[in-house]
Amino acid sequence: MYSVLRRALFRLDPEDAHDIATAQMMRLQDIAMVRRLIARAFRSREHPVELWGLRFPNPVGIAAGFDKNARMVPMLSALGFGFIEVGTVTLRPQAGNPRPRMFRLAESQALINRLGFNNEGAEAVAARLRALWSSMSPEGWRPLLVNIGKNRDVMIEDAAKSYEESYRLLGPLADGVVLNVSSPNTPGLRDLQSPEQLRPILELVREVRRKSEFLRGGEHPILVKIAPDLDAAQLAEIAGLCRELADGIIATNTTLSRDGLPSPVAEAGGLSGRPLFERSTDVLRTLRGLLGPDYPLIGVGGIFSAQDAIAKISAGANLVQAYTGFVYEGPGFASRINAGLKNLESRIQNSE
Ligand code: FNR
Repeated sequence: MYSVLRRALFRLDPEDAHDIATAQMMRLQDIAMVRRLIARAFRSREHPVELWGLRFPNPVGIAAGFDKNARMVPMLSALGFGFIEVGTVTLRPQAGNPRPRMFRLAESQALINRLGFNNEGAEAVAARLRALWSSMSPEGWRPLLVNIGKNRDVMIEDAAKSYEESYRLLGPLADGVVLNVSSPNTPGLRDLQSPEQLRPILELVREVRRKSEFLRGGEHPILVKIAPDLDAAQLAEIAGLCRELADGIIATNTTLSRDGLPSPVAEAGGLSGRPLFERSTDVLRTLRGLLGPDYPLIGVGGIFSAQDAIAKISAGANLVQAYTGFVYEGPGFASRINAGLKNLESRIQNSE
């Protein structure tokens, strides 16, 4: 059924299609009976994962960027995702880059975006999260991460303060916070991946966490989301710092590379989807090698199928996420992957 809907949506500008899907999801999630019917239709097989004192009903999450302003959390839960990452949220609201800024490369099952952190800002998203928790029934509960970044006009030397302020507003309302230092569409943001820049950010945010009163239980992990375009030395540096000061790494964000595309594409921005799979999985595998078996890692980049998710898990992921695969595969995405995880698990066990 999604193939018909997708044909219609794919005739539209990608951001218009996203806006229409968002409006529909918000409309439907407000009708309790519809939400329950959707939750029944798209229920995911349980594959519980315990991490950071949280219980994830399954390891397949929706990646940052899909729900920047935390407007679709009940619907994304009903569609069977095991956890939800909202954002990127910046301290102040921001319009992002001029449109068009999102491009579909259908033959490559990829997207290019240069949205530039369009979002409603930390205060608006905090208010929405507060309302969400007061209205959400316990059975709909699943871990929620908030991804934070800096406004475009914040100088690099002021970045740590900006992450600190955003954490103060949003951290207490989330199960965990992701420090986004890897989007390619905010000039200078990726420089924050260097240990000299990242250390003060982590130290300040940890200090706020220490003093915070949280709405919900768990260890309130602070995670760092990294780019796929780091070299081996940079990866080793960031892994060392994260082992010391962060509770996990999300690998990876979109890439500036255009490898894997059949023909050159002129649009600037971050590439996601199938062409990102190998590089992001290599980064994940390298991190697992550097950090040993116990350090939490979330694998993201180019997941379309259960096989892809299994490949990420085999490369070292405790949890996985997707964005582009969900756009191409439709509302059954999470439940199909979770059904396939079971089959693959039993196949792996049978062949042993
Ligand atoms: C993203 N991604 C992203 N990441 C992030 O940390 N903050 C953000 O605001 C966004 N925004 C965003 C918008 C769009 C349109 C896309 C396609 C992606 C990156 C995303 O979370 C993920 O890391 C990559 O897209 C790789 O995963 P997929 O899409 O290949 O499954």
